[in-house]
Amino acid sequence: MPRIAKGARPSPNIWNSPGTYELENLAVDPDRVIESAMLERRPLTGARVLDVGCGSGFHLPGFAAQAARVIGVEPHGDLVDRARRRCAGLRNVEVRQGSAQLLPVPDASVDVVHARWAYFFGPGCEPGLAELRRVVRRGGAAFIIDNDATRSTFGGWFRAAFPKYDAREVERFWARQGWSREPLDIRWRFERREDFESVVRIEFRPEVAEWVVANHPGLEVDYAVNLWWRAF
Ligand SMILES: C[S@@+](CC[C@H](N)C(=O)[O-])C[C@H]1O[C@@H](n2cnc3c(N)ncnc32)[C@H](O)[C@@H]1O
Repeated sequence: MPRIAKGARPSPNIWNSPGTYELENLAVDPDRVIESAMLERRPLTGARVLDVGCGSGFHLPGFAAQAARVIGVEPHGDLVDRARRRCAGLRNVEVRQGSAQLLPVPDASVDVVHARWAYFFGPGCEPGLAELRRVVRRGGAAFIIDNDATRSTFGGWFRAAFPKYDAREVERFWARQGWSREPLDIRWRFERREDFESVVRIEFRPEVAEWVVANHPGLEVDYAVNLWWRAF
């Protein structure tokens, strides 16, 4: 297995600090707003689910509890290993190494695609969208979760950290591709301040991270995301 499959976008947070990224995943969306919005549109019962850019497989067991079959695809070999270890006891889960641009999945074999902060989907991701059209069966649906940099406290931090990110251009891109946008309000909720601070430090460059740590007290932050989705 190559260390990193071709086409992967650098993802320093989870690639370099998978343990801290796990703390982030544990803190994200305690109210399960994202999951509810997805399930409202496409229940997972009996479905074949594909998680693109599944990282260390954090979401795979939850899908496996509802779906018939779950495939995680992840370009980074160490994360593939982590995801496989996490799901070792789950007979309906398989983790394959690959990237969104060349999914290691047969044509018309998937009912639901989930891609959460997969660092690939946005302007320029047409090869990945073509792959989704190839692998999703008629009647299926795809969901892509990403930051909404136009709103929320977290969105402000994101704009400070990535001033060249053009949120309006991202919205225009998805509209041109025929995808729908569901703006969602989620939050981070940590158990310990030190976990919040270590997660902030893997998400933002030092100047921004230290500003956030110094100016944002407590264990929570409001966080706007977009759920981009389409039916097939
Ligand atoms: C921020 S992490 C999110 C991981 C996971 N979705 C989660 O929510 O825990 C971004 C992930 O996208 C993956 N990634 C980067 N480029 C990709 C590509 N071209 N196709 C699929 N996944 C990609 C990275 O390897 C990394 O695991």
